[in-house]
Amino acid sequence: MQIDPWGSTQYQDYGRLRDEFGISAFGPEEWQVFDDPHPLFRRGVVFGHRDFERVADAVRGRDPWAVMTGLMPSGRMHLGHKMVLDQVVAHQQAGADVHVAVADFEAVAARGMSLDRARGLAIDEYVLNYLALGLDPGRAEVYFQTKRHRVQDLAHRFATRVNLSQMQALYGFSGDTSIAHVQAPLIQAADILHVQQDEAGPRPVLVPVGVDQDPHIRLARDIAQSWRRFNLVFDEGEQGHVLTVKGSEDVPRWLDVAEAVLDDLGIGTRTGRARKDAYGRISLGRALGGREVRDLDLALARAETRRGEDGVALLRPASTYHRFMTGLTGDKMSSSRPDTSIFLTDDPDEAKRKLMRSVTGGRATAEEQRRLGADPYVCPVYETYLFHVARDDAHLQEVHDTCRSGERLCGGCKKEAVEHLVPFLREHQEKRAQAVEAVDEIVAHD
Ligand code: TRP
Ligand code: SF4
Repeated sequence: MQIDPWGSTQYQDYGRLRDEFGISAFGPEEWQVFDDPHPLFRRGVVFGHRDFERVADAVRGRDPWAVMTGLMPSGRMHLGHKMVLDQVVAHQQAGADVHVAVADFEAVAARGMSLDRARGLAIDEYVLNYLALGLDPGRAEVYFQTKRHRVQDLAHRFATRVNLSQMQALYGFSGDTSIAHVQAPLIQAADILHVQQDEAGPRPVLVPVGVDQDPHIRLARDIAQSWRRFNLVFDEGEQGHVLTVKGSEDVPRWLDVAEAVLDDLGIGTRTGRARKDAYGRISLGRALGGREVRDLDLALARAETRRGEDGVALLRPASTYHRFMTGLTGDKMSSSRPDTSIFLTDDPDEAKRKLMRSVTGGRATAEEQRRLGADPYVCPVYETYLFHVARDDAHLQEVHDTCRSGERLCGGCKKEAVEHLVPFLREHQEKRAQAVEAVDEIVAHD
């Protein structure tokens, strides 16, 4: 199975996807690190992660961490897009600095859009909505891929580390794929990784995405690792961790750097560790715990960065994966098909009309529904409660239970959702009008 970021597949079996791609489950153990865990976490909308532990370390230690997201300026912003922003805003409030890439290169490369139109849509449709949803412009930036030279530079350097077979294996590219399309994932990897090149340096970067973006995450993680000078692996034969220096230049000096870091963290002693300059390796003599591995990796990345020849050493980014909302018509939500979703700029009457017409998990007749109950798991109206409008978890539980028992009928259920959604939209649209002033503050000039 292959995931296609530009395809139209709706992924249904999230558990299977997670297992197949080695994504870890995201549960209470992960989200409890936040004082006020977001409903999207508690309700299981965010179902998986890679390396979230690094983020949790930073949150606990009050160390710097960042959130990176990108927007494809291809149409209007709908409730499905809102969900990611809600997560980003919650992370900003929990201490992360936020970076938003406008994927204008990707819009041109993969969708054939003009740069001008991409720019206009990005501001009107996305940036204004992001601000209205609570993104603080003081600790966030929005930049354009095509304008940020350091992203383009980094993408070019990454291109020297990746070959066509890797890209084909990840994305299924074939002979007639345009080169711009092949470049787009390298630019996205540069988006994600360039964040660590600022003053705050190597640090955990969380990228909240849907599984469709996972190939990009895997690519960015592989590139980050290939960029590092040190490798840290568990060696079966030695029953312990081994640190190796890549390449053949300056090996003794790099081993000195590593030893200084190990001393600093109190991992073994110079006499207890086995250093072999000829093989460019230090055997640590024991297995490290997960936290030790992450602390060592971060400290090594900082030390590599201080040596400086390759620019910044990049930590592998972390990611979370969320479920998608189903369209109101029962198929995929899409900006280009207005009836599939509610847009943040929809007139409240229009939004009401769309929701009232939505498909449901209900039965053919009211009588049957009262007798047999309905199925919230296949119902876009239920998803609207789950992702957005349920006041609290008790409210959601009540919707769920009364739906299944047959006490709740779809007409009334939709009306109740509308009663929550319409005031939200009104208020949001007022905030949007006020957000115009903050656009200049949040949009970066390069
Ligand atoms: N490819 C993403 C999309 O289609 C947009 C994007 C560009 C992105 N750069 C990113 C997402 C960096 C996350 C991180 O929506
Ligand atoms: Fe969906 Fe509500 Fe009908 Fe249940 S009662 S199927 S949640 S619309």
